[in-house]
Amino acid sequence: MAALDRMASMDDLRRCARRRMPRFAFDFIDGGAEDERNLRGNQTAFQDIELLPRYLVDVSKPSTGLTLWNHSYAAPIGIAPVGFLNMAWPGADMMAARLAAEKRIPYVVGSASSTPLEDLAEAADGMAWFQIYIANDATLTDHLLDRAKAVGCDVLVVTVDVSQPGKRDRDIRNGLQIPFRLTPRIAWDLARNPAWSLQTLRAGPPGFANFSQIDGATAGSTSLQEVQRNLISNTLDWDDLRRLRDRWTGPLVVKGLMHPEDARLAVETGCDAIQVSNHGGRQADYAPPAIAALPGVVAAVGKKAKVFVDGGVRRGGDAIRAKALGADLAFTGRPFAYGAAAGGYAGMRKTYEILSLELTRALGQIGRPNFEDVDETVLARPLNR
Ligand code: FNR
Repeated sequence: MAALDRMASMDDLRRCARRRMPRFAFDFIDGGAEDERNLRGNQTAFQDIELLPRYLVDVSKPSTGLTLWNHSYAAPIGIAPVGFLNMAWPGADMMAARLAAEKRIPYVVGSASSTPLEDLAEAADGMAWFQIYIANDATLTDHLLDRAKAVGCDVLVVTVDVSQPGKRDRDIRNGLQIPFRLTPRIAWDLARNPAWSLQTLRAGPPGFANFSQIDGATAGSTSLQEVQRNLISNTLDWDDLRRLRDRWTGPLVVKGLMHPEDARLAVETGCDAIQVSNHGGRQADYAPPAIAALPGVVAAVGKKAKVFVDGGVRRGGDAIRAKALGADLAFTGRPFAYGAAAGGYAGMRKTYEILSLELTRALGQIGRPNFEDVDETVLARPLNR
């Protein structure tokens, strides 16, 4: 698609996605909780972190690679788990898996994917991690863990920031229901976006592929409300995390912590990494930006665990900002969805190519050709500790 050549930024891809998607689907992906101040804050807080350029350094051979738990990755920007990614464009789940394999970047398969986790892990060719929510029904958690292990996902990401469903005002106004209910408003929305609608019709509307195959209490739970009831537990506590830690033998990442004390407790529980995240501003609108919470978590965790961050990464240089503040790896979610909507697989690849180009250019500008050499000395203003 020729127009993709003229896409220069995540914002360009987002605008293009908005034109090609029905309003309710775009809002589901793009939106955040309540007034969306946390959603916006995630991005502006990154922009506010300045890096001081350095020159007269040979930067002709930039290297963005890194090694983590004996895996090599080509870049420090991973694909965050996005449930219902196929809402962006039919087949987007599979595009993300293929992109991870092609570019050799970390990719987290969401348990709320619309394609069976086995198919995604296979397509990701060794790059897939698996994300889980601790379910109310322990047999569901066990079942998913066994399946993830069987397909070679050795890194488990447990998301803990959904003790309550996020209140997303755009979805309420749009009357979004999963599975879709054809209201006149949604029918009109679909009619105005025939490419998305016809392809979605052909592929089948996105659903919860990993839960519908399960025997037992949660069998056939394919509505959002039902899945939330089964998966989102407001009774979860540190004992549940401890049990998960005991059960999972590979690296365990806790995603969705913002408080230094929670991070310290997670490390005490034996977790291998903390992913500082506010779910992309989709849960607690009054929360600070993820990148603003990062230094506190890094200070609390020290060298005892890895620290990752997501939320608001929109430029390749954001991975450098994150590393300068102590994160080993940054993830991004919505930009891959925008790319898929803007141009299918080529569009999603464009997302990565823009971020990757920006990352190598920024490494050159700050005189640190090797990403692994980035530390807090690249910051224009020293960290206040
Ligand atoms: C998410 N996110 C998410 N996280 C998770 O652990 N499990 C999930 O099922 C989902 N689902 C989901 C759906 C949609 C539509 C979005 C936008 C996000 C959160 C995601 O992993 C990540 O934390 C954010 O997307 C990061 O923010 P940015 O990069 O989108 O700004």
